[in-house]
Amino acid sequence: MLAAAAAVPEGWSTDDLEGGSMWMPNPASTFAGSIDGVFNFIYWICLIFFALIVAMMVYFCVKYRRREEGQKAEVQITHNTSLELTWTIIPLLLSVVIFYVGLEGYVQMRQAPANAYEVQVTGQKWNWTFTHRNGAQDVQVLKVPAGRPVKLTMTSTDVLHSVYIPAFRVKQDVVPGRYSSLWFQADEPGTYQLFCTEYCGTSHSQMAAIVSVLEEDEFERQIAEDAAWLDKVDATNALAMAEAGYRLYARCASCHSVNLDEPGSAPTFWDTHDMWEAGTPRQMADGSSVAIDENYIKTSILYPGEHVVAGYVDQMPSFRGQLDEKAIQAIFTFIRDMDDLLNRDGSLKAGG
Ligand code: CUA
Repeated sequence: MLAAAAAVPEGWSTDDLEGGSMWMPNPASTFAGSIDGVFNFIYWICLIFFALIVAMMVYFCVKYRRREEGQKAEVQITHNTSLELTWTIIPLLLSVVIFYVGLEGYVQMRQAPANAYEVQVTGQKWNWTFTHRNGAQDVQVLKVPAGRPVKLTMTSTDVLHSVYIPAFRVKQDVVPGRYSSLWFQADEPGTYQLFCTEYCGTSHSQMAAIVSVLEEDEFERQIAEDAAWLDKVDATNALAMAEAGYRLYARCASCHSVNLDEPGSAPTFWDTHDMWEAGTPRQMADGSSVAIDENYIKTSILYPGEHVVAGYVDQMPSFRGQLDEKAIQAIFTFIRDMDDLLNRDGSLKAGG
């Protein structure tokens, strides 16, 4: 859980980092109670049999140790029918119970209720995009209504990822080229961690998100706001556009740092900003050099393979179809004017 704290998106904290058991955070979905029940059941069976077997082994070692030189065994026991039946039937019954409880839970978790609220999830190196029915798109924050079943329909644009929400006890692979799904119902409003739990490359450990469970009307309000926020930004106001770009930067943050103390796996936006401001051309991996301007940023967002900066690898996904013209303008305005908003360690400037 300690490592998880670092991956919480800017400005968010989670409730599930506190409390819970040694194994798991506090249970927060309708599944969690029965899953913890099965887990504890199996855990105690293992613990009881481990103690029993080790204790008997030690006892027999002592009891039947060789006492004097040359002593022979007096009887040879070949089998004991009642003992053998006992150690066959008891584990068989335990296995049947575990299988039954597990199967019942599995079937329940595989079939989302017909009235579930559906969210489209896209995994991409290395962030999560959550798309709602009204068109709202949130990056790194999954907003869901409390007290209602929620179904996630998930796919990946590049490699295998996997959604894991420990507090809800749900986990499902996210596979390129097909849809997978999972569902849950969280009754208590709060914020919970979502992890990528399939190793997917350099910034896998940063590929985390927050699940924000909201009361129904607050949820509707926020989703409506998220669907329309960029339309309301005044495109002629550079500061407003830079701030919008900073909000969109959540998509970039797992690779492109704005904190010079902690550069990520891609060029920091400060380097890009400084070179743009100074008019310094950037050295590319293929030996060419390219001037940094609006076109360079736009090309890098839509066709990342065109300009691979020297010292880095060609691993950025394209954002074609995900960011429209205004969003791209907001991002390059943010990079151009980021010194108005941020300090060199990525913190917000006072009044910014
Ligand atoms: Cu995506 Cu690990």
